Amino acid sequence: MNEALERVGLRLLRAFEPETAHGLALKAMALRDRAGLAPMTGPRTSPRLAGRLWGLDLPNPVGVAAGFDKNAEAVGAGLRGGAGFVEIGAVTPQPQQGNARPRLFRLSADRAAINRFGFNNQGMEAIAARLETARAAGAVGVVGVNLGANKETEDKAEDYAAVLTRFAASADFFTVNVSSPNTERLRDLQGREALEAVARRCLAARDAAAPAKPVLVKIAPDLDEAGLDAAVEAALAAGVDGIVATNTTLARDDLASPARAQAGGLSGRPLRARAHAVLRGVARRTGGRVPLIGVGGIETAEDAYARIRAGARLVQLYTAMIYEGPSLIPRIARGLDALLERDGFASVDDAVGADL
Ligand code: FNR
Repeated sequence: MNEALERVGLRLLRAFEPETAHGLALKAMALRDRAGLAPMTGPRTSPRLAGRLWGLDLPNPVGVAAGFDKNAEAVGAGLRGGAGFVEIGAVTPQPQQGNARPRLFRLSADRAAINRFGFNNQGMEAIAARLETARAAGAVGVVGVNLGANKETEDKAEDYAAVLTRFAASADFFTVNVSSPNTERLRDLQGREALEAVARRCLAARDAAAPAKPVLVKIAPDLDEAGLDAAVEAALAAGVDGIVATNTTLARDDLASPARAQAGGLSGRPLRARAHAVLRGVARRTGGRVPLIGVGGIETAEDAYARIRAGARLVQLYTAMIYEGPSLIPRIARGLDALLERDGFASVDDAVGADL
């Protein structure tokens, strides 16, 4: 019944401009949750799926990727709807309009999306207040904050640190986003020295405001081998707690949809192979020293499982939910449970890096 409703909703949303459709989808998720009609009443979990990481209890390893709920409007819905965790944001210190619309494009034939949002969000005060309200209303579960920087800020690390400090009490983990392609020169922060310096400043802010809460760095899929060496070395030298691979890509290989010519970051199915390869590259370089989150083009339980076997401890998705709806997350978690059982793994931890 719920999934049939979701299919009808998804078809209706197709009639709207993509950004409008996404806003409506978030509102529908939040409303359905408030009315007690969420597809699930809690996260999908099982003894195999559940685990502990960074001192956090995770009911399952499948989460909502950054950008899906930038302003924390559907945190409770995400968590009660079956996700193992959600990442909100990117959040910047000051509210920000982002780039001119249209700035989100569906590439339906490719099961992909292109966005050039440019960190549009309501700013850390409004978003932190909303997260605090959601927590007070019983949104129990792991919530990360994707740290962004305002367009005009010269010293991006200062903005990341400010947002981290604002969410010190309400968030469970932080992701330093140095890999959005939609803020000029942001990706330059992935260089060896720049990344170590930015990460150190975020970690210092964490030590001061939110001791023990993990700080991760999110990298682009467009780094070459030398770029990957540099980024991983810098992240490890600074002492980050994990790496998220990957953000959206600037590449445009073999796309059928007319919107392929749009500027911005490409996500979804065409990113899958590249994101998988970069995750594996990070796993080989880190050798288990820090946990990894795999993201990019995950659409099925098989994709999620392959990413875990390539070294991810957690996975996230966004674009596949545009096409399949948010109930895809608990469906992937259920399928993952079956795959772990089939292959004799007692836990996700046991499967991490099995293919390396
Ligand atoms: C994103 N993504 C993203 N990532 C991030 O670190 N901060 C952000 O603010 C956003 N915003 C954003 C908006 C939109 C519209 C999309 C489609 C994506 C990237 C996202 O978290 C993820 O890394 C990629 O989309 C790859 O995963 P999928 O979409 O292929 O599952």
